[in-house]
Amino acid sequence: MAGDVQFEVSGDAYDRLIGRYSGMLATRFCDAAGVSAGQTTLDVGCGPGALTSELVSRVGAASVTAIDPSHAFVAECRRRHPDVDVRTGSAESLAYPDASFDAVLSQLVLHFVGDPESAAAEMRRVLRQGGVVGACVWDFTGGMRLLRTFWLAAVAIDPGAPAETTVRRFGADGDAASLFRAAGFRDVVAGAIDVEATYTGVDDLWSGFTNGVGPIGQYVATLSADHRAAIRAEMARRLGNPLGPFVLSARAWYATGRS
Ligand SMILES: C[S@@+](CC[C@H](N)C(=O)[O-])C[C@H]1O[C@@H](n2cnc3c(N)ncnc32)[C@H](O)[C@@H]1O
Repeated sequence: MAGDVQFEVSGDAYDRLIGRYSGMLATRFCDAAGVSAGQTTLDVGCGPGALTSELVSRVGAASVTAIDPSHAFVAECRRRHPDVDVRTGSAESLAYPDASFDAVLSQLVLHFVGDPESAAAEMRRVLRQGGVVGACVWDFTGGMRLLRTFWLAAVAIDPGAPAETTVRRFGADGDAASLFRAAGFRDVVAGAIDVEATYTGVDDLWSGFTNGVGPIGQYVATLSADHRAAIRAEMARRLGNPLGPFVLSARAWYATGRS
């Protein structure tokens, strides 16, 4: 299956925007899901491999499988994790036999999946009886400061900007848990995971937006230089015009359940 153009980008470009949060998020997400040695695991929507990396450190590369529709990200995840089975494919149609894994996790993916109900059914199908499922998505109600600040600035300059913070499903507490309950998972638990990233300055922050990554990168690519400069200035103003390093907090909502 072809990858979505917004994620047919390099791993380095992704890391400048979102990847710098993904490692810390993966550690806390795996803690919440109770991932530990001896489990066979699947990373759904692996991207360049932040969660994959955490899984490898916990269970070993031979027990980690990863899948993503982006050809560029599959290639990068394979490069970063040569001993992991990384395949091209989507959450709605997982190319694995029934009951293949003890843990099936998906980090920052559900809000991009076209048919989340089919994805949840597939995650349940490939889980062994008693296995753990988990998903997490950014808090689009305000707790993910990077995305929130960008889109507030973009809408302030251009009221027609396609602010994903107002349109994304799964960005509120309990959304993923509802999906899992409806899919038939039991013992569903939901909560928040808080992480952060440090920026050397506004230039460092802005560098994440100009490489075509995700909805923000796609939007910025359509803008004139003047329009970009206006959003950048508005973002900096909303962050207090920092002159040196600063930290942005980011909250994700997660849900886990059992098959
Ligand atoms: C924000 S990135 C998250 C990547 C990685 N999991 C992380 O935490 O850094 C979203 C990922 O979802 C993938 N994706 C989009 N639609 C998908 C689908 N239908 N099934 C599986 N993955 C999908 C994208 O290709 C991209 O790699």
